[in-house]
Amino acid sequence: MRIDGKPTRTIWPRPDGVSVEIIDQTRLPHRVETVALTTAAEAAHAIKSMQVRGAPLIGVTAAYGLAMALREDASDAALGQAVTFLGAQRPTAVNLRWALDDVRRAVTPLKPGARSAAAFLRAGAMADEDVETCRRIGAHGLDLIRGLAAGKRQGEQLNILTHCNAGWLACVDWGTATAPIYMAHDAGIPIHVWVDETRPRNQGASLTAFELGAHGVPHTIIADNAGGHYMQHGEVDLCIVGTDRVTASGDVANKIGTYLKALAARDNGVPFYVALPHTTIDWQLHDGRQIPIEERSADEVLRMTGRLPGGEIATVDIAAPGSAAANPAFDVTPARLVTGFITERGNCPASRDGLRGLYPEPA
Ligand code: MRU
Repeated sequence: MRIDGKPTRTIWPRPDGVSVEIIDQTRLPHRVETVALTTAAEAAHAIKSMQVRGAPLIGVTAAYGLAMALREDASDAALGQAVTFLGAQRPTAVNLRWALDDVRRAVTPLKPGARSAAAFLRAGAMADEDVETCRRIGAHGLDLIRGLAAGKRQGEQLNILTHCNAGWLACVDWGTATAPIYMAHDAGIPIHVWVDETRPRNQGASLTAFELGAHGVPHTIIADNAGGHYMQHGEVDLCIVGTDRVTASGDVANKIGTYLKALAARDNGVPFYVALPHTTIDWQLHDGRQIPIEERSADEVLRMTGRLPGGEIATVDIAAPGSAAANPAFDVTPARLVTGFITERGNCPASRDGLRGLYPEPA
C-alpha cells in the first residue's frame, strides 16, 4: 500500500542483507517512523512491544529474527533455543509458531554455516507469499462484496464494520479483512467502513483508520460499544474481521471484543465473515477454549497515549487511582456465530468440513 504516495510494506530487508526495517506501529498514526532490527533480541522486542503486530506480520518478523539468531550461533541447540525464545513473545497468534517451524524445517538439513542466509531468504519468500495470499483473500472477499452490493440501489453505499486492525499493517501488504475493502473501493463499489476504535490499544482508531484514510476509503471511527446500535438500525451490511488463530473446527480467536460483535451481528441478521490465510489455522486444536489468550498489562486499560495539541506524544492516566484492571487481549468467537471464512483459496462455511474442503492436504 502507499504512504504519502510511496509503495510501502510493513517490513523489508536492509541493503546489508542480514537485517530488516519495520514501520514502528507504536508511533502511528501520529508519526511514521521506521526501526532497524538487527538481532533476534531486537526482533523479539519488536513483537512483544507491538512495534509490529497482527498475526501474519508477527510470523514474518519472527522468521527474520530466527535468521538473525542463526548468525550468532547456528548449532542445532541454538536453533531450538531461538525458536523457543521468539515463539514465546506472544501466545495467541499461531502464525508465529507456523513461521518459526517453517524456517526451522528449511534450515535443519543444512550445514550450520549455511543456515542463517537460508533462513533470511526463506523469511523474505514468506513475506512475498503473504502479500500474494492477502491479494487472493481480497479477490475472494471482493466477490462477496459484489454480491451484497448488487442488492443495493444504484450508488447506495455498502456499510462494512471491522474490528481491530487486520489491515496491511497487520500483514506485509493488503491485509486480510481490509484486502476485500481496498479492492471493492478500487473497483468503484461505494463502500463505507465503520472502524471500531478497539480499546484498549486502539488499533482501529490509530491503525485501521490511518490505512483507510491513506487509501481514500470513506470510514468513520466508532466507540467499540456502538456497533450493535448501528446494526439494529440497519446501518451495517457486513462485518469482516481478521483472526489470530482458527481451530480445525472453525472457532476464531481475534482481538478482544470480536465475540460481542459476532453476537450483535447474529441478533441482527448481519453477515459476519472472518478473513484468514492458511497460516492462521491451527489444525492441532479442535475447540476454541484451547486457544491461549494473551493477558496484557493493566496499564493498557488504565492509561491512554495520544498527541497533545503541541504535537508531543504523551501517556495519561484515565482511571480512578488505585483501581485494578484486567486486560485479556483476545476472545474466541464460536464457529456457529461466523457466517463464513474468506481465505486465499476461496470462501467457505466456518466449520471443520468447510476448512477441509479448501485445505484437504494433511496439516
Ligand atoms: O494485538 P494485535 O494488534 O496483534 O491483534 C491483531 C488482531 O487481533 C488482528 O485482527 C489479527 O491479528 C488478524 S491480522 C490480519
